[in-house]
Formats: sequence, C-alpha cells, structure tokens
Amino acid sequence: MEKKIALLRGDGIGPEIVDSAVRVLEAVAAKYGHKFTFTPYLIGGSAIDATGKPLPEETVAGCLVADSVLLGAVGGPKWDTLPGDLRPEKALLGIRAAMELFTNLRPAKLYPALKGECPLREDIVAAGFDIMIVRELTGGIYFGERGQRWGKYGEEAYDTECYSRMEIERIARVAFETARKRGKKLTSIDKANVLESSRLWRRIVHEMAEQYPDVACADMLVDNAAMQLVRNPAQFDVIVTSNMFGDILSDEASQITGSIGMLPSASLGDTARGLYEPIHGSAPDIAGQNKANPIATILSAAMMLLYSFDMATEAKAIIDAVDRVLAAGYRTADLAHGGDAVTTTEMTDLILKELK
Ligand code: IPM
Ligand code: MG
Repeated sequence: MEKKIALLRGDGIGPEIVDSAVRVLEAVAAKYGHKFTFTPYLIGGSAIDATGKPLPEETVAGCLVADSVLLGAVGGPKWDTLPGDLRPEKALLGIRAAMELFTNLRPAKLYPALKGECPLREDIVAAGFDIMIVRELTGGIYFGERGQRWGKYGEEAYDTECYSRMEIERIARVAFETARKRGKKLTSIDKANVLESSRLWRRIVHEMAEQYPDVACADMLVDNAAMQLVRNPAQFDVIVTSNMFGDILSDEASQITGSIGMLPSASLGDTARGLYEPIHGSAPDIAGQNKANPIATILSAAMMLLYSFDMATEAKAIIDAVDRVLAAGYRTADLAHGGDAVTTTEMTDLILKELK
C-alpha cells in the first residue's frame, strides 16, 4: 500500500520523537512492502515563530489531503504568555475541529515489564489493567460559548458545556463498538447529578445500550470514577466520557500506568484519516538532548497502522518489538530512576532491531 503521512513535529521534544516514529514506520514499510511518504507541516510554537499563527492554513490543508497525521507535541514556556487564541494549544483544538476528529482513543494499560513503575499498591494492580478511554473531542466546554463580561460582582468569565444528541450518539456508538471488540464492558462517565448536559448524555447512552445487549453498560459519576481509577482500575474495560472529563481522567489513567512516556493516542472521525500523538507534552526541559522516551509516539504510529491503514499485522509487529525491548530491561531516562538509561536514538535503534 502507498500512504501519505503528514508530520506535525511541533515543539520541545516533538521533533525527536516524531523522527523516531518515522524511522520505525520506514522499517515497517520496507519489511511489509508498503510505501509511506512523509510531508512536514508547522504547528504550535514553532509555527508561531515562523508565521505568527499556531495553526497555519497550509498545515490544515496538508492534513486534509494526507491519509493520516502524526503529531509530536506543542507548547513551551516561550509561548505561555500569549493570549488564548494565539497559544500553541489552540492549534491542537483547531486541527481536531478542522479534521472533525470527534473520537479520542486513549489506551492505558499496565505493561508487565513496568509494573514496578506503577504508583499503586501491589495488591491493587496484581491483576493488571487494560483500559480504553473513549473521549469526545470536538464538543463540550472546549468548544462551547465563552466570554468575558461584567456581572453582579464585577468582571467575570464563562465557558459553557453543551452537547447535542448527534454528538452524544456518535461518540457512544464508537464506545459501544469498541467495547464489543474488547471486554464487552462500557462505563459511561458523567456528572448527571448536577449537569443538564450530563443528563442528556446519560439518557442517550441508555437508549443506545438497548442496541448493544452484549455489552454490559453502566454509568458512573466523574468524581467517583476518579476515585475508582486508583481504587480498582481493573474494573474498567472501555470508558466513554465528555471532552473535559476525558482530558482529566486520561491523565489520571496514564499516571497509574507509571509511564506517561509510553501512552499513545488516536483521534478519529468518520473517515480513515486520523491524528496520532503521544499523550504526553513537549517536555521543553529535555528538548534537543536525545533523552526523551520515543515509545508513546512509536506506539501512536502503530495505532495509525491499525486504525487508519487497516494494517493489524504491521501494528502488532511494532507493539511486540516495544514489548521485547522493555522486557530485555532497556529504559529511557524517564523510567530509569537515575540508573542506566538509553537515549532516544538508542531506544529507537533497539526497537528497529527487534522489528527486523
Ligand atoms: C490533551 C491536552 C490538550 C487537551 C490541551 C493541550 C489543549 O491536555 O490532549 O489532553 O486538553 O485536549
Ligand atoms: Mg490533557
């Protein structure tokens, strides 16, 4: 197969980790007889520096003609004081909206080789856990009406959470289908005891549950869910939730795997074209030092092969190679606790060697 991949390297460690993933994708192409072409576009702080805008039009246009998009990370202290609309993070929201990527898949699983990294008590994670968070990505409070005004107490600002039936139905459908292919258990997380938007969310999820009798579906309030994730993470299979709750819970879930440098994500819409990125940030403190863990981005490339290109064998080859390198004891600095660490390029070389 021939596929065009847009590269959004971004800021901080973004360029290093994207380049690692490109080397892995090139090795996969060579091994399985595919042809991947890569076209870089600017995003985030580096785009602000070069063009004055965090998300230039050429970037959006390039992503929309690509077969898929691989992103590193955006942001850094240099751009932190810019007004909201010019911040690098705005580019992320912009590209998600422009590509209509309403689904964000964030898997959080405990790697047996990294059990020692998990901050939870041993008996809590004895059985391991493997959670797929399905986060709504183009609606809710991130995109609702917002503003500043004068009110009863003077200056005030507001953001609004609004979900339409259409938006809830389409994300719930993805979640039910995902659960059907996994452990057949879905937890829908909301705040229906307080929020009207959550009550609509819950009602629609219940309606749809009738179409999926093979999936055990339950609701959970978000405050309880935050607690349950650290009390008994093994109870979760697939989680579906709103944009903001998903943002928060996916950081919590990543932390209990002990290794935020390991977690990939996929943002998907109605077409095969997706945007794949590690869930960690741009780590400006270690940028350019060949220290970053490239695994989350490499696993994001594996998700691209699986979800955008339907290349399950190729995706599994990457995941297995990563597993073998970790099982052999190699660690980047984030996982080495001051002990022997391999560099970004060394980790990539090790994975490439296992792939061949
Ligand atoms: C994430 C990030 C983004 C989000 C920020 C950087 C806009 O936290 O992808 O989880 O909130 O969606
Ligand atoms: Mg986040």
